[in-house]
Amino acid sequence: MADMYDVVIIGGGPGGYNCAIRAGQLGLKVVCIEYRGKLGGTCLNVGCIPSKALLHASHLFDAAQNEFAGLGIKTGKVELDLTQMMAQKADAVEGLTKGIEFLFKKNKVDYLKGRGKILGPGKVEVELLEGGKQVLETRHIVIATGSEPATLPGIEIDEERIVSNVGALSLKAVPKKLVLIGAGVIGLEMGSVWARLGSEVTVVEYLDRILPPADAEVAKDAERIFKKQGLTFKLGTKVTGVEKTKTKLKVNIEPAKGGDAEALDADVVIVAIGRKPYTEGLGLETVGGKTDKRGVIEVTGHFKVAEGVWAVGDCIPGPMLAHKAEDDGTAVAELIAGKAGHVDYNLVPSVVYTNPEMAWVGKNEEELKAAGIEYVKGKFPFMANSRARTNHETLGFVKILAEKGTDKILGAHMIGTGVGEMIAEVVIAMEFGASSEDIARSSHAHPTLSEAVRQAAMAVEGWAMQM
Ligand code: FAD
Ligand code: NAI
Repeated sequence: MADMYDVVIIGGGPGGYNCAIRAGQLGLKVVCIEYRGKLGGTCLNVGCIPSKALLHASHLFDAAQNEFAGLGIKTGKVELDLTQMMAQKADAVEGLTKGIEFLFKKNKVDYLKGRGKILGPGKVEVELLEGGKQVLETRHIVIATGSEPATLPGIEIDEERIVSNVGALSLKAVPKKLVLIGAGVIGLEMGSVWARLGSEVTVVEYLDRILPPADAEVAKDAERIFKKQGLTFKLGTKVTGVEKTKTKLKVNIEPAKGGDAEALDADVVIVAIGRKPYTEGLGLETVGGKTDKRGVIEVTGHFKVAEGVWAVGDCIPGPMLAHKAEDDGTAVAELIAGKAGHVDYNLVPSVVYTNPEMAWVGKNEEELKAAGIEYVKGKFPFMANSRARTNHETLGFVKILAEKGTDKILGAHMIGTGVGEMIAEVVIAMEFGASSEDIARSSHAHPTLSEAVRQAAMAVEGWAMQM
């Protein structure tokens, strides 16, 4: 006889596992199905966590060589142990994966290792990793199947020399010449890692700027800083193909608007041109579910695919970020339990974990201009922040945009050390509909980098006192 559940969740990434934990907390009988063999999805296994482990370690490697002496710390020759760097990354991933299994047990969430397929309303078949099949019956199905890397026609990913995020996080040696296709988040983060470890990095980007979703002023400053760090950008350029010889790769490029072709030599090519939802073999059609041209599952209002079928995370519209997937998953569990559940995508922050970091929330200047919304801008450079100067980390700025007339905060855009943590302050302020003056009049500890946020807020009304 089939098991009867309140909720069957397909996919154990941040969307799925957080939905499962919250459903368990709310007393629902819930099972999460994951075929990877490990929980945590893209984020934990081949995304957020391993990339941050390498960003952190490679940053310290770089600092030990280029910054420690200036701080009065002598090290002798600093050497790279890539095997150990990869091992500590694997260790972080392993520990966190196990942590989710523990949280499942704590919240009475069942966990099935296998591939989930919807058979129709209230029915999910699981092809178990250990062999055999099981059919589950349920009141609700939650699709949390995430995304996979987008590919370029004619460029075949082998995960050895032409790699996606998966191979990029596990290269066996530091490539002498590395070409990244796409100057988006992965391009900049992975480009930073391998440049710090010694690669000659070229980033090829189709558009004439880096990091399209970021505020243009932030992106421009970042481009200048990354060039100084040794990254080469080929903007407004398209890749037409990659030729493989036994030992080398030849990346053929030409201007996006047409012009003379050229070729770049590479040992490794990372393809990072975005991600697409993953819904292969899911049986979406059996419940009347639809996808758009890009494969994004269509949902009405609050995550609804059909009666009793919901979808969350990277496979539905909205930013493809782990905390967005987490918020979606939590909201759906609450909706199923009869509570309210809503996520405001305008208030989902973005962070790029380079050095310096970039972080933003709400609307940027280009978006406000396009929407015809009048705004006032307050900007404060880290060069004028006492803690940044003390730490010799003076790159970047904080910019706050507030509505003209009401002073309501519409967006915040930052580049600088630690801004990935600082953005949370503005997210909360915006959740409460705060004005820039609310931040400007709130006490911020001294000396902290976050004083720059306060000064930028003061600058909106023209009274920043430290510049
Ligand atoms: P996923 O994490 O993709 O999880 C979906 C899971 O479903 C997968 O484990 C998959 O195996 C499983 N699955 C799919 N189909 C089935 C099926 N039929 N049956 C059973 N299981 C199935 N976001 C951030 O917020 N911060 C970061 O720093 C960050 N860094 C990133 C770095 C990289 C290199 C990459 C690639 C992504 C990064 N992201 C980051 C994005 C983040 O990883 C995703 O937004 C997030 O993982 C989406 O969560 P999800 O649950 O929707 O999907
Ligand atoms: P992305 O969407 O961030 O960037 C892709 C870039 O590739 C864009 O600049 C785009 O213009 C460019 N591009 C597209 N087609 C191209 C082509 N044919 N030739 C050259 N350039 C081309 O995608 P990315 O970097 O692959 O990352 C995928 C997603 O994963 C991100 O959008 C983000 O949602 C998530 N992510 C989040 C991180 C974070 O939060 N820190 C870190 C890494 C990934």
